Amino acid sequence: MKRFRLIGIGAGDPELLTLQALQALREVDVVFLLEKAGRGKDELTALRRQIMGGVRPDGDYRTCEVQSPPRPPVTDQAGGAGAAAYRVVVANWHARKRAMFSRLISEELADGQTGAMLLWGDPSLYDQTIPMIERVLSDLNEPVQLDVIPGISAVQLLTARHRIPLNRVGESIAIITGREAEEIDPTLVHNSVVMLDYSAAFQRFTGQAMDIYWGAYLGTEDELLVAGAVDQVVDDLLALRAEARLRKGWIMDTYLLRRRSAAEPAGD
Ligand SMILES: C[S@@+](CC[C@H](N)C(=O)[O-])C[C@H]1O[C@@H](n2cnc3c(N)ncnc32)[C@H](O)[C@@H]1O
Repeated sequence: MKRFRLIGIGAGDPELLTLQALQALREVDVVFLLEKAGRGKDELTALRRQIMGGVRPDGDYRTCEVQSPPRPPVTDQAGGAGAAAYRVVVANWHARKRAMFSRLISEELADGQTGAMLLWGDPSLYDQTIPMIERVLSDLNEPVQLDVIPGISAVQLLTARHRIPLNRVGESIAIITGREAEEIDPTLVHNSVVMLDYSAAFQRFTGQAMDIYWGAYLGTEDELLVAGAVDQVVDDLLALRAEARLRKGWIMDTYLLRRRSAAEPAGD
């Protein structure tokens, strides 16, 4: 029987690999590397190669490199932005990716072999590879065992770097996209992590008695951290973000927006 592993590699620093991930990588016969164009994707692919080189210096495994189908811009595909149009675009893109995975697992992995993909951060967070592979495997005419190895996500790295818990006592935590942060009524946000933000949506949250804990390129040598009242740090943060984006050509940031409470309860 074939085995396919989705391995969380942590969000930036190879030292974030768990012992379980290390062991899983040691057992792999074929590593599938999805090459994606632009926006620092080449740097992320290079990091995956670096991880494999470190874990398997013998090179006793095969690397299968494939071009991942690029996600088309929403306007090109469905005539306008908005949630429904976005879902159509993503569904089409996922179908193309499923076809690619189906071919890879059928043709590039032999019976008895273990294949793996190295997924950024944790496979469960804003990553649809698990359901995509589940669906591909259920459509294949052969049994394939799927394993998922958790990883340290950008959210965990962010809170560790800022030395904060994700939530205060008894408080809920939401994880939202930049797209949602662009549209939501700011008064409804109390304690939310924002990911996949392409337009610095935090600037909508001034005048809200909110703090921000922001991190970019977490776990890498370019790591940037900013914390403070949104009202006070917003201008500097916008400038820092723009400068970093210009310098590197891409940015990957995550932040927590937290409404300040008059009497912050002590404890955990
Ligand atoms: C497609 S999601 C993948 C998240 C990943 N599965 C995880 O567990 O962190 C990509 C988003 O994660 C966040 N992200 C991932 N790595 C990051 C890093 N090293 N520094 C800051 N944000 C990061 C950013 O918000 C980025 O837009």
